[in-house]
Parts: sequence; structure tokens; C-alpha cells
Amino acid sequence: MAEEKWGSKLGVILAVTGSAVGLGNFLRFPGVACANGGGAFMVPYIIAFVLLGLPIAWVEWAMGRYGGRKGYSSAPGILRSITGRDRTAQIGTLALIIPVVIYMYYVSIESWCLGYAWKYWSGGMREVVAEARLQAAPEAAEAAGIDAAKGYLLHFAGVVPEGAGQESGNFRILREFGKGCLPFLMICFALNFILIYRGINRGIEWFCRWAMPALLVCALVILIRVLTLGTPDPLHPEASIANGLGFMWNPVGHRLVDGTLVEVGFLEALSNPQTWLAAAGQIFFSLSVGFGIIMTYASYTKENDDIALSSLSAASGNGFFEVALGGMIAIPAAFVFLGPESIISAGEKGSSLSLGFLALPGVFEHMPAGHFFGGLFFFLLFIAAITSSLSMLQPAIAFLEEGLGLGRHSAVTLLGFITATGALFVSLISSGLTVLDHMDFWTANFCIFLLATIEVIFFAWVMGLDRGLKELAHGAEIRLPRALPFVLKYVTPAFLLTIFGSWLAKEVFSNGPYIKALRSEPVVQLTVGFIVGLYVFFSILVHIAVQRWKKKEALYSEKGGSA
Ligand code: ALA
Repeated sequence: MAEEKWGSKLGVILAVTGSAVGLGNFLRFPGVACANGGGAFMVPYIIAFVLLGLPIAWVEWAMGRYGGRKGYSSAPGILRSITGRDRTAQIGTLALIIPVVIYMYYVSIESWCLGYAWKYWSGGMREVVAEARLQAAPEAAEAAGIDAAKGYLLHFAGVVPEGAGQESGNFRILREFGKGCLPFLMICFALNFILIYRGINRGIEWFCRWAMPALLVCALVILIRVLTLGTPDPLHPEASIANGLGFMWNPVGHRLVDGTLVEVGFLEALSNPQTWLAAAGQIFFSLSVGFGIIMTYASYTKENDDIALSSLSAASGNGFFEVALGGMIAIPAAFVFLGPESIISAGEKGSSLSLGFLALPGVFEHMPAGHFFGGLFFFLLFIAAITSSLSMLQPAIAFLEEGLGLGRHSAVTLLGFITATGALFVSLISSGLTVLDHMDFWTANFCIFLLATIEVIFFAWVMGLDRGLKELAHGAEIRLPRALPFVLKYVTPAFLLTIFGSWLAKEVFSNGPYIKALRSEPVVQLTVGFIVGLYVFFSILVHIAVQRWKKKEALYSEKGGSA
């Protein structure tokens, strides 16, 4: 049996929900939903939740508890315990490096959230806004046909159309701000590693028990503020919260054609493969599925826990935070103050980062008591990010402990060193946000899809559905859907392979921007080289771990199974 255990059923649900609820819910979701047309995005999103997110989360939970019972909490150990074959452990390498690499840039964004909250509450944000206001020349806004008074705001949001002389500034503000965030980065690192050092029960579970309710309260306060904004500018009755909600929920798509908003029919919007891909990517990122994290967390559950229900509760809780809170805060507020063209453009240009860090501060400028609510919003993001970043460290810690026999102290120190190197690489060496952007692409898009595909095929075709579903159903008080075996064996893999394959084909064969950058930009080559280097490093460690496990098992059987 895995040595550590969650203290209670509620504790594990809160921890898994905490891992899921993060920047993905409050920043990435609104950005992706807007960039993919608003309302029409919700259908592929819900389908991806049902056919990909939930089934693969169940797969990870079942494999995790199975491995936990055999004494393993890391993906290499868990997967090896399922097949009994040493080679299988190497599949787990991917599940170790994905969360570690994501942590490296995620923690940087986490530190910006803390920095923004601090700036709002200490009054420093007024200077930032004044600077943005100065930089935004009213003539440029006018030339772009934008209400001059809104010019500085749009400039701040990075959505002034190119050619209007306002291209600069936007990402520079964020980049400069990111560099000034080093003290906040250190605070975030310290907090993450102290909690991880304290362990599953006294660290992760303890923190999530108070952080999740606090998160809910902060989000509800901001949601009420947003939903009661009504129509702030009587001269523009169309810029109302009701229309903002309609933008998100009415089943029509929206697209920008030469900067002009065009409504797209529901079916036409659905026929765009990019929308399906974006929906699937969002579901994976948001649920922390395909990261390998859930497997590790599930290994600490007790033998008779209802993992099927825990998984369903955590996934639904995450959905609530994402759609009912994250989406309904950011989208209507940005719609009212910036207009639909701007939020689509912000989403398309820099996705979550530009909407969250550049557009939303503009929104808070216009909101009554905006600096208080701005601070609260970014503090909320910071708490949400911590409960997720914590979970990204645990798989590697579990591996270093059980695979290499390191004590908690040494495991935490080694991982601290590895992740600090990566985080500094992201924040300091990066020219612009290039390293962050490309790390995100190759891990959160490419590797997550790859791991999720491998996991579901492994579960259905290698572990075997009988064994896997028996594990999932053990202790369950809910009845699993009758269609689940069919979905896991055929529908989910086929769905995944289709969208993953078409995406890969599009990127590789049409020489997409990320492939092109990889071919020509040294900093991108360095970034991908860094990820590959880390993979090789962990792969060697996995090899060493397998030798250790084999020796231990030989010793155990020599002693007649009584060691
Ligand atoms: N699931 C985490 C998030 O949504 C990674 O931010």
C-alpha cells in the first residue's frame, strides 16, 4: 500500500478539485471561449467533457488506486504494477515531466497574479494604468475608428488593431511586469515547496480545505459585482451584462472579419475543427487530465473509497468553477467595457494571458470600486493557481521517493532545484513571452494529448476493461454508465486520435507557426531542447528506479514474501 493516505473523503475531493481549478478556469477558459466564437463553443466543450474529460479522469483514478494498493504512487511504478512488465514504466516518464514542465511556467503566471493583487491593493496599479494611458495616443485610436476615450484601455488590453501605431506596449507591460515579479516568484516557490514538504495530509489536503471555500467566496463576491453592473453606459445600451451573457450562452458563433464582428450560424461554427480541438484542449487542461496528476492523487485513496463518485464530484466542481464563475465573471465584464470585437481579438492574440492580464485590468478601471475588485480577482487567481501548482509537484516527489529511495528532504531539494532552473529560464532568459508560450504549446497541447491517448488505449486494451472497470466500481455507490466500456474502448480513443491526428497534420504539414518557429528560432529550439533534455534525464531515473524495484522484489521473494 502507498504509505501516505488522504485524511477524509471530502479532503481528497477538495484536493483533486483544487488541482483542477486554476488559471485554466478563470483565465484560459474565457480566452479560449471568446477566441472560438462565444456561444457555439459551449457545445463541443460539453461533448468533450462527456466523451474525453470524464472517462479519462475515471481511467486515471482507477489506475492510480490500483497502483496505490500495490505500493506505488508515481506513474512509472503504477503502470509497471499493472502489466508486471518493466518496459511499461517508461510510459510513466511522460506523466512525470508534463506536470514538472507546466509548473515551471505556471508558477511564473501565479507570481504575476500575486504581483497584480499586491499592486492593486497597495495603490501601485494606478501608476501602471497612468503609464498605459500616456502611451496610448488618442489619434491612433481614432485612426482605428475607436472611441478615443476607450483608446488607452484597448491599448492596455493589447487589442488596438495593428497598423494603428499601438502595437507595442501591450506585451511589453506584461513582460516588464513579469521581470519585476521575482520577489513574488520566490514567495510562490516557497509556499508551494513548504506545502509539498508537509506531505499529502498536512500539506496539500490541509491547504485545499481552506483554500477552496475561500476561492468560492471570492469568486461569488466578484460574480455578484459583475452581474449587477447592468448597463454602465446609458449611451451604449447594447453594452449590457445581459448581452454579455448572451454572447457566452446563445448558440451562435462569432468571428472577426477584417476587424468587424460577424455572427456565424451554429452548425457552421461547429464545422470548424479548430473549435473541437480548442474544446478538447481546454477540457484536458482544466480538469488536469492527461497530466498524470490524478493517478498520483488517486493512489493515496483508501481501498474502499468511492473513487467513481469522487472523480465525478471533482470534475463537476471544476466545471462549476469554470463555467458558472470563471466564464461568467470575465466574459460579460469584458464584453460590457471592451466590446465583443476586442475580447475576441484579445483571445485570438494572446489567449488567456492577454484577456486576463491586459484586458481585465482595463475592465476594473471602469468598474465602481474597481481597484478593490481587481485586487480580489487576482488574489483569487493566485489561490486557485497554488492549489494547482502544488499538485504538479507531487507526481515527481512521489517518484523520487519511491523510485530512487530519496527522503522527503532530498526529493524536495532536488525538485526545487530542477523547477527553479526552469522557472528562471522562463522568466528571465525568455525574449518576450516566447519561452513561456512555446513551453505551453509543447506540453499543455502536444504532450497532454499524447499522454491522454496513451492512457485510454492502455486502460482499455492493455490493462483490460474488466480489470480496470472492476477497480473503478469497487466501493462505488453510484452506477457507472452502461455505455462506459464502449466509450472507453472505441469512442474516446477514436475521438482523440481524430482530433489529435488532424491537429498534428495541420501543424506539421502546413508548417504551422509553432513548427516554423522551431525550425528557425534559436530560443524556441532551446526551449524544446530543454523539455527533451528533461525527458531524457527522467527517463534515466526511471530506468534506475526499475532496477531498484526489481532488486527489492527479488529480495522479497527470496525471503518468501515476508520482508
Ligand atoms: N487544471 C489546472 C488549471 O486549470 C492546471 O489551471
